[in-house]
Amino acid sequence: MSMHLPEITPSIPRSRTPQDLWRFVDRFSANLPVRPTDLVDRPTGYKDVVLITGTTGGLGCDALEHLLRDENVGLVYAFNRKNSHAMERQRLRFAARGLDGSLLNSPKFQMVEAVLHEPDFGLDAELLEEIRGSVTHIILNAWKVNFNVPVTAFEQDIQSVRNFVDFALSSPYIHAPAVVFVGSIAVLDNWKKLGPVPELPIDDPACAFGKGYSESKWVPERVLQNVTRERGLRTIVVRVGQIEGDRMGHWNEREWFPSLVKSALFQKCLPKQDGDITWIPCYEAAQALTELRHSSDPIVHLVHPRPVPWDSVLEPIARELNVPFVPYRTWLSTLEGSVVGEPGSTEQAHARRRNPALRLLPFYREQEEKIEEAHGPEREAMGFVFLSTDKAVRVSESLASLPETAGERALMWLAAWRKSGFLSTSWKGKL
Ligand SMILES: NC(=O)c1ccc[n+]([C@@H]2O[C@H](COP(=O)([O-])OP(=O)(O)OC[C@H]3O[C@@H](n4cnc5c(N)ncnc54)[C@H](OP(=O)(O)O)[C@@H]3O)[C@@H](O)[C@H]2O)c1
Repeated sequence: MSMHLPEITPSIPRSRTPQDLWRFVDRFSANLPVRPTDLVDRPTGYKDVVLITGTTGGLGCDALEHLLRDENVGLVYAFNRKNSHAMERQRLRFAARGLDGSLLNSPKFQMVEAVLHEPDFGLDAELLEEIRGSVTHIILNAWKVNFNVPVTAFEQDIQSVRNFVDFALSSPYIHAPAVVFVGSIAVLDNWKKLGPVPELPIDDPACAFGKGYSESKWVPERVLQNVTRERGLRTIVVRVGQIEGDRMGHWNEREWFPSLVKSALFQKCLPKQDGDITWIPCYEAAQALTELRHSSDPIVHLVHPRPVPWDSVLEPIARELNVPFVPYRTWLSTLEGSVVGEPGSTEQAHARRRNPALRLLPFYREQEEKIEEAHGPEREAMGFVFLSTDKAVRVSESLASLPETAGERALMWLAAWRKSGFLSTSWKGKL
């Protein structure tokens, strides 16, 4: 069975206006293959067969564990980067994230090293046919998580979505596999309306415009809507919000919140805010993601359905680090005041390494504007938008019953950052 791929066109220049993003949507929606003739019913009595990409990363690794534990799943194909010692890295990642490594010995697990943006994923024909003939759900989780590059840098990622769409459409069964795309709250960067954001398509690309990453997550949303409309393929976009630490409490130190906490070692204060947070622990988010494969709604939101006040998680951290709580503006000014050296100088580079919040100053400034806008549209702490989860909680039982984030969880993050050395033990406070 041949794979119909979109025409190769020269790269489209970096988007200049929001409307330019439609050209990406058109390009990756072009020439959709028609379903094969002589489609047949799926054999009955079989369990789900799930293909998931990017299981060496945080969310994918945790999702893989849930899939391997799931009694309704008979087989998991984990698609990871070719020639990357994927199996070895998978085992290391399972151990580091407190997951049960013995599950990787299960006969229901198959690691597949693949090139996601290439036709046929660089796999041999026999394996590809085996997967085509068995897969029931495709979870597209792999993505370049880089906020500093333009949308053009994501062409291979978007191409990979299109490749899996074509693969799903080539299924020999009447019911082709469902395609689940791990989207992002980032597509709502410029959302201006009042109230929680509904689980619906975003018609105006201006909402996602401005950052390559956000734009790169909006384009597949629209491509998948076209695919569903034109070919009847079941597609599910899961817009994921802020994920926090892993099972051990460890939260990726390169992110904005760990850096904000670490700034307390230098700024000797932490910011207080009025709003709530809907952060979700990675292991629990991953479980919900796997459950959301059953959604009959094309767009669902994956954030904590029970918001808690920002202060309720920051206060135990401030107490533990022995620093006062100050208004956000004061914290930001203190951070701005600690910038040393010229841009690009060794002195500045050194300061940014010690206090990574300095590296993220533009982000914290941008969020301040959004916090100020909070009197208009309803917003969370840090100016993030509130997402409705009405549809998601109807499908995902684990999301519906997720306990509120408590102060103890914040202490788990601190313990994990101390263990990794991110929060230096030479600090004179209680550390
Ligand atoms: N973390 C969050 O708060 C958050 C929020 C919203 C949405 N998301 C989305 O959730 C998904 C997972 O995020 P994460 O935080 O788990 O990120 P991560 O830890 O960086 O994991 C990304 C995964 O994608 C793989 N990948 C990236 N480019 C690839 C390529 N060209 N070919 C094959 N594999 C590739 C990585 O493989 P290697 O290990 O080989 O690099 C890794 O397995 C992403 O789609 C992200 O956009 C995350």
